[in-house]
Amino acid sequence: MEKLEVNFEKMYYGFPVILTSFYDENGVAHVTPSSSSYSLKDMVVLGFNSKGFAAQHLKAGADFVVNLPDPSLQESVSYCGSRSGSEGSKFAAASLTPEASEHVHAPVVKECPISIACRVVEVVESEHFPGLTHIMGRIISRSVAKEYLNAERRLQIGKINPIIYGGDGVNKGFRFLQES
Ligand SMILES: Cc1cc2nc3c(=O)[nH]c(=O)nc-3n(C[C@H](O)[C@H](O)[C@H](O)COP(=O)(O)O)c2cc1C
Repeated sequence: MEKLEVNFEKMYYGFPVILTSFYDENGVAHVTPSSSSYSLKDMVVLGFNSKGFAAQHLKAGADFVVNLPDPSLQESVSYCGSRSGSEGSKFAAASLTPEASEHVHAPVVKECPISIACRVVEVVESEHFPGLTHIMGRIISRSVAKEYLNAERRLQIGKINPIIYGGDGVNKGFRFLQES
């Protein structure tokens, strides 16, 4: 395959969009979209621009929930990505519903088919990459929509229906595995 050298400032090669939800110090529910995450075993890592409202609160140790939106929620995702929680909660304006998690002190996004409740265990801010904050969380509990599960309560892989985010810093957008 012939390849060309490119000079992108970013390379988002197709990541699932997540909505991270948490409470601020006044108990107000907040939600922010991101695509920089990965999970291994009982660990989740989220990558944030350090200046973001979510980054600041999670860095301070707030519990959080990683919620996986499906394509029906793309407008909510775009709205949440265009505003900061520093202006107030985005839940209502994004037509999203916060529900208290039974497992951590954080709200679950009711409309999302997968929600993963987490507790912050470590924050990494490397001098090699100033301006980035990595939040390492321990997974406390996982909730999955009934229709994503088989009779043995295991995941039906064919049901997973993420919003995929890709871009090079200039061209960016969503892709989908299935029609919603
Ligand atoms: C699809 C999508 C993916 C995004 N991915 C990230 C990300 O991985 N890390 C990040 O810091 N911001 C990301 N953003 C930008 C933030 O969501 C945006 O700056 C938001 O306004 C931050 O809100 P907050 O200040 O309430 O945290 C993404 C936005 C969208 C729409």
